Amino acid sequence: MEQRSQWGTRAGFIMAAVGSAVGLGNIWRFPYVAYENGGGAFFIPYLFALLTAGIPILVMEFTIGQKYRGSAPLSFFRMEGKKAEWLGWWGIFVSFAISTYYAVIIAWAMKYTIYSFDLKWGSDTEGFLFGTVLNLADTPGQTAGFVPGVLIPLILVWVIVFGILFAGVKKGIEMANRIFIPTLVVVFLLVVLRAVTLPGALTGLEAFFKPDLSQLANGTVWVAAYGHIFFSLSIAFAIMITYSSYLPRKSDITNNAFITGFANSGFELLAGIGIFAALGFMAVQNDVAVSEVATAGVGLAFAVFPQIINEFPGLNGLFGVLFFLSLVLAGLTSLISICETYVAGLSEKFGISRNKAVIFGAGLASIVSLLFATRGGLYFLDTVDYFINQFGVAAIGLVEVIAVAWVFRKLDLFKTHADSMSDIRLGWWWKFSLMIITPLVLGYMMFDLLRQNLG
Ligand code: PHE
Repeated sequence: MEQRSQWGTRAGFIMAAVGSAVGLGNIWRFPYVAYENGGGAFFIPYLFALLTAGIPILVMEFTIGQKYRGSAPLSFFRMEGKKAEWLGWWGIFVSFAISTYYAVIIAWAMKYTIYSFDLKWGSDTEGFLFGTVLNLADTPGQTAGFVPGVLIPLILVWVIVFGILFAGVKKGIEMANRIFIPTLVVVFLLVVLRAVTLPGALTGLEAFFKPDLSQLANGTVWVAAYGHIFFSLSIAFAIMITYSSYLPRKSDITNNAFITGFANSGFELLAGIGIFAALGFMAVQNDVAVSEVATAGVGLAFAVFPQIINEFPGLNGLFGVLFFLSLVLAGLTSLISICETYVAGLSEKFGISRNKAVIFGAGLASIVSLLFATRGGLYFLDTVDYFINQFGVAAIGLVEVIAVAWVFRKLDLFKTHADSMSDIRLGWWWKFSLMIITPLVLGYMMFDLLRQNLG
């Protein structure tokens, strides 16, 4: 039997976990979610969600992986037998779906890194992105063919991912994160530093931090905070279970979870500052309110940012390169973690080598990703993304927590396990969060979603 792979160092594991958590969501999702849901006041539900769901579930998933030493399905199988295995496959299935379009977005970011050098998008960045590049029509498939120039970056993304996965856990994933994460931090800090020194930056920051306390009474704001924490920390996707299954037998799980959670939030906060400073600049330049330019996702990164770069005082190409490079680096380290869930799952389930699992799993994902790289592919991408975010995350999280805490009743066992290796004792808050708070909030979230979608 192949010896189980293991991280080389504790820092290597933390870098990899942080690499998974810090992704596109931190840069293009968090700032807008916070802004939309109470601005400065959002930090209250956000911190609450981090401390009652994010970190407690991270501790739980790290414990599951480290204790049962398997991919997500195998870990659940070892925990509670056949009837629990599908919990792992569910997470893997969702991860697989995400990986097919996450790769395409990284490819666009690569393309835009190159565009930044000669500012190829002109002044109508909205039209450039949606008209020329993505060619969105009301219905998909009206204009056939690939988005111009995205095929080569997409192939490059997959070549990098394949290379890293082939090289293994320690020499591939750990090494890549040890290089990419510090580089990302430096590059992104430069972006933020430049952004906050732009004229108008303060206007943007004021809009971002201005607390709207009345929002705290609004249920959707709390749901948004929990939803974001799940996505941002990559929990309930089988990822953190897989990564922690490569931890040595003695590892300070609780401490690692706190570090991962706070590092991710720190990065997110930084992104909020950088993005809104830049949006403030743009609003002031064009004499409009920040609310007119604030947005998230594809529009923010590929239409609004090019606009900001166009209007930038001096060295604008450089700012563009650094911004899009940040997206590429943050995205790649997350993509690798998503792919690793099914590489580990497939190889253990079917007893095939790691390399074969990479070829089958990531091979299939890369073929599916071609669909999203076509003109109009954004239409499919949006649809898949919507369903995953709406139903995948909350549903898996809810079922996973209820299964482990209430049905299998494993929390005391896990607490003893984690406490035996950490200076931080898991207090009553940990069990209380997992047994009561998280199920209640996620249950409400599911209920709310169903009501919205059915009603
Ligand atoms: N956590 C990553 C982010 O914030 C995204 C991600 C979600 C990565 C799900 C893997 C799985 O962007």
